[in-house]
Amino acid sequence: MVPQGHENVTTLIEFFKSKGLNELDLVILSACHTIGRSSCYSILHRLAKPDPTLDIQYWKQLRKKCRRGWDLVDLDVTTPKTFDIAYFTNLQKKLGLLSTDSALYTNQMTAAFVDATVSQPSLFESQFAASMVKLGNVQVLTRKNEGEIRLNCNSVNRNY
Ligand code: HEM
Ligand SMILES: *[C@@H]1O[C@H](CO)[C@@H](O)[C@H](O)[C@H]1NC(C)=O
Repeated sequence: MVPQGHENVTTLIEFFKSKGLNELDLVILSACHTIGRSSCYSILHRLAKPDPTLDIQYWKQLRKKCRRGWDLVDLDVTTPKTFDIAYFTNLQKKLGLLSTDSALYTNQMTAAFVDATVSQPSLFESQFAASMVKLGNVQVLTRKNEGEIRLNCNSVNRNY
């Protein structure tokens, strides 16, 4: 089970905790969304009416870009192809694409981690590495029949 993108911040924190990851890991790992794109399906629930957690100009821009559910939009509107802390400065400016991104700036503790990362960008890369190692140790398959290790990340293996 992985979060789908509609969860509130309490649910995200609980889900991460159930895997041994804390609030800092949640915030830091969410910065994966500094690159890549999302289908519009994942944000349609934010577009129907202006969303107070979304910058209004950004909301208008997204409404224009999202003509169809399968249209794609950048996760990081500022520097979509660069691995940097713009993901966090976006959150401060209500420019988070997914509602789960915006949600990180609505909780006291997670918002404090966002602000801390922005004020000390040099800490980001080492913390990202540490949190990725923790993520990599979640539910590691060690025996037959525990689950499958995908040969292609995008789909279940044939004959599974
Ligand atoms: C905090 C919980 C997370 C949620 C709720 C979440 C949710 C999502 C959603 C809804 C999308 C867009 C899917 C679509 O409609 O196309 C997405 C894309 C993406 N996510 Fe996450 N995600 C989370 C954490 C992570 C983490 C920890 C990583 C990296 C380790 C990550 C890396 C990515 C990448 C790279 C993309 C873009 C994929 C592409 O461009 O094809 N996400 N995520
Ligand atoms: C978050 O979502 C869960 C599950 O849908 C719900 O039980 C809870 O009341 C929600 N919490 C807040 C603060 O909205």
